Amino acid sequence: MSQSVLFVCLGNICRSPLAEAALRQECLGSELNVIVDSAGTGDWHVGQPPDERAQAVAAQNGMEIGHFRARQVKAADFRDFDHIIALDNQNLRDLNALRPAKAISQLSLLFDHVAGRAGEDVADPYYGGDRDFDQTWAEVTEAARNIREWLAAG
Ligand code: 4NP
Repeated sequence: MSQSVLFVCLGNICRSPLAEAALRQECLGSELNVIVDSAGTGDWHVGQPPDERAQAVAAQNGMEIGHFRARQVKAADFRDFDHIIALDNQNLRDLNALRPAKAISQLSLLFDHVAGRAGEDVADPYYGGDRDFDQTWAEVTEAARNIREWLAAG
C-alpha cells in the first residue's frame, strides 16, 4: 500500500520543492512506496520551476528538481493526500482555512517531525542568499529522515 505526502509553503518555488526532493531522496532504495508532491498556498509562481538557488542546492546534494513546476493547493489535495505538511505556521493556518469538511488528510508542521523543534517555522530563504538555502536543505533533510521512519512505522 502506498502513502502520500504533500509539502506546502507559500510560493512552491523554495522550501516545499526542497522538502519534496529531500523526502524523495530519503525514500530512494527503501521498501516504502510513498507518493510525494508539493504545492503553494499562493499562486504567483504557478507553472514556474523552483528558484535557481533551490535547484542549485538540490543538485549539489544529488537531486535534480529543474523539472518541478509550481502549483497551488486545491481542495482535492485534502482528499488525495494522507499527509499535508506545512513549512511554516502561516502556511498551516492557511491550510486549516482551506480545509474542506470532508478532508481526510492529516495536517502537520514540518518541524513537528524534528525532536525539540515542534511548532517552529522553516524560515523563508526567498529574500536570503545561498547560505539560507543550505540551511533550508539541512532542515528539510533532517525532517525527511524522520518522516520516512514515521511512515515506515505507521
Ligand atoms: P517559498 O518562498 O514559499 O519557500 O516558495 C517564497 C517564494 C516566493 C514568494 C514568497 C516566498 N513570493 O512572495 O513571491
